Amino acid sequence: MNILILGSGGREYSIGRALKKDEAVDKLYFAPGNGATNELGENLSIKDYHDLADFAIANNIDLTIVGPEAPLVDGVVDIFKAKGLTIFGPSKEAAQLEGSKVYMKNFLAKYEIPTARYIETGLIEEAFKFIMTLEAPIVVKADGLCGGKGVIIAMSHDEAKKAVSEMLSGKSFGDAGKKVIVEEFLDGYELSMFAICDGDDFILLQAAQDHKRLLDGDQGPNTGGMGAYAPTPLVDDALYEKVKDRVIRPTLNGMKAEGAPFEGVLFIGIMVVNGEPITLEFNVRFGDPECEILMPLLKTPASELFYKAATKQLDTLNVEFSDEYAVGVVMASKDYPYSSTPPAEIVVDEIVHEDIRANTHISYAGVSSDDEGKLYADGGRVLVCVGLGESIQKARDRAYALCGQVHFAGKKLRTDIAYQAL
Ligand code: AMP
Ligand code: GLY
Repeated sequence: MNILILGSGGREYSIGRALKKDEAVDKLYFAPGNGATNELGENLSIKDYHDLADFAIANNIDLTIVGPEAPLVDGVVDIFKAKGLTIFGPSKEAAQLEGSKVYMKNFLAKYEIPTARYIETGLIEEAFKFIMTLEAPIVVKADGLCGGKGVIIAMSHDEAKKAVSEMLSGKSFGDAGKKVIVEEFLDGYELSMFAICDGDDFILLQAAQDHKRLLDGDQGPNTGGMGAYAPTPLVDDALYEKVKDRVIRPTLNGMKAEGAPFEGVLFIGIMVVNGEPITLEFNVRFGDPECEILMPLLKTPASELFYKAATKQLDTLNVEFSDEYAVGVVMASKDYPYSSTPPAEIVVDEIVHEDIRANTHISYAGVSSDDEGKLYADGGRVLVCVGLGESIQKARDRAYALCGQVHFAGKKLRTDIAYQAL
């Protein structure tokens, strides 16, 4: 099987890494990929989605997997399917579950899927009036994609009003903020769950926990995620069943009823409040760094999972997961998440300890390479050190042991990944 992966992050690297080990896979391509994915396959510099589809036809690509949300929201799946290609990801319409928070919240309300009490509006007076019915903190969200920055947790009514004013005036997020969601703040613990969907059926992967803040103890600014672990002991079988029955099943049925069956990864951001799962948001793709820890826990060949999902055959798949735990620690560049950082060479020490060598690996993200194959940290989140083990403690110790062997100027990491589980 020849497979094309769209994207350039650690998420796409980890999918490629899983496919590389898969006997059914012949050739792997990345578009655009990063400075390390060319070790797993071939990087393509084609940007236009129609040109990429033509490349897929000309090169006998059997399956395309889309990593990030932007191409999905742009409709890459529709373009590929119109040319008869097999592609794993939601249609442009189904991608609205992530592309528009207004669409998502109205969908949740229509199909009675538990979510925070909210209003959606483009009118400032209406937003202000609703704000006054809530107690602080108050959550204000821009409708469109804002690169993970469109959610403000306001600590006072005035702060919430200011956030609304800045969004609606177009000052903070341009057109993405022309409509807003104002909603109640939910107090609980947060989980990331991922369902691989084929429109009708789904496979729920192990629940993960992300660490969104930059600094230890969940302090500092929000980031794309500084580390993750799975499976989390914060979820028991009863909670998995509740998420399946109350969130995933009604979402798949609802999207079919809307004429936009959901195929691809349904990423459910959940807040568990008094033992009950409340949907915070949907994304229509894998989380990053969650993907980097879930891929190594998959025992079923990755090509089989993604191909069956893309061809409506999930009902014939008996998926198997490893019984280990995975912990991923992100190493980011010096100025993340504020600005880019000049390239810095990455040096990985030879790992002499057999136990560490056998149970850890790196998923590369923001890296470039030179002609000699040297890798450079290229800004943003640079790489993820992943450790596996029979306990979270063991997996975590190994991930941090690997972190100690990886060097680049300005490297930044949290030292408390998985603390909630220990
Ligand atoms: P979202 O992009 O909607 O997931 O929001 C980003 C982050 O904001 C989430 O991961 C939560 O940590 C937080 N958040 C969003 N909505 C709420 C809410 N209603 N109550 C509490 N925290 C929230
Ligand atoms: N790690 C969270 C995300 O990918 O959105």
